[in-house]
Amino acid sequence: MNPQVSTKSTPLSALYNTETPPAGLDLLGLIGYPLDNSPSDTIHNTYCQTVGMPALYGKTNLSANDLGNFLNQSKAVGIKGLSVTMPLKEAILPYLDTLSPEAEAIGAVNTVLFQDSKIIGHNTDGVGAIRAIEQALGEPVSNKRIVIVGAGGAAKAIAWEATQQKAQVFILNRTKEKARLLAEKVGASYDSLIKASAVLNEGCDVLIQTTPIGMLSNHSLIPPVILKPTMLVFDIITKPATTELLKGAQEQGCKVLHGQEMWIHQALEQYKLWLGEAAIIDESTLRTAVNQSAKQ
Ligand code: ATR
Repeated sequence: MNPQVSTKSTPLSALYNTETPPAGLDLLGLIGYPLDNSPSDTIHNTYCQTVGMPALYGKTNLSANDLGNFLNQSKAVGIKGLSVTMPLKEAILPYLDTLSPEAEAIGAVNTVLFQDSKIIGHNTDGVGAIRAIEQALGEPVSNKRIVIVGAGGAAKAIAWEATQQKAQVFILNRTKEKARLLAEKVGASYDSLIKASAVLNEGCDVLIQTTPIGMLSNHSLIPPVILKPTMLVFDIITKPATTELLKGAQEQGCKVLHGQEMWIHQALEQYKLWLGEAAIIDESTLRTAVNQSAKQ
């Protein structure tokens, strides 16, 4: 399947449906594929209007083949920043002039900043997840034992930031070899997912579910009976808001953290990168915009 981006369409018409967006607005947007059901543009625009931050956020489907042209043209027309989602987070790397240390370590980019004629890649996913967890815990993650289920891109971003913050990280994955590769990269322990019960028994302050399981099915990779009420259980999936894992965790008396909290915190980090001093950071207004869009 090819994203529906005409080779003739410029970033301005693709993102904002006009070659002449209103003057005085910082131009932001989302690229990836498929984005037709993404609520990001509605949420960001509602937030910007509510807090009075003069920015316009668009979205466009884009294929990896069109990335180079799209980024160069975006720079030329004065777009300030972009969010990057699947399947472009790694494909975008060759087109960037500079990477932030976290984007470099994670090997993926979810945020692009056009600054001083450079195209810079950042990654706010890991920071977003750890901010959300620290808020739920009410304390820093340093020295906490964090068990991460999965070893894909999201797990990598979170594991990297967690170890940066001096948490003790344990990676559990269906394919043990993939768990080993990630664990060795970030300085974590690892095992096969089938050892989940024994690993959680050894101690776990925060359990983070990063696989797609739970998105489309009412299945959980972690049976609720192996959870303890002292654990904070976090599922990064945003739809459904309460996955089977989180339902089970609630029944076991665990505190739970929903995927939307990671999205909120990673987005607030993006505003800071894109807009610097001009960024207006208002977490509760962003949460309200997210909740409103979920009801639509
Ligand atoms: P992303 O980059 O979006 O995080 P990914 O790289 O496709 O996603 O990684 C998906 C993760 O979900 C992997 O850890 C994968 O486990 P494997 O490494 O063993 O493939 C995990 N995953 C996907 N389907 C799974 C399933 N049915 N059971 C257990 N783990 C699964």
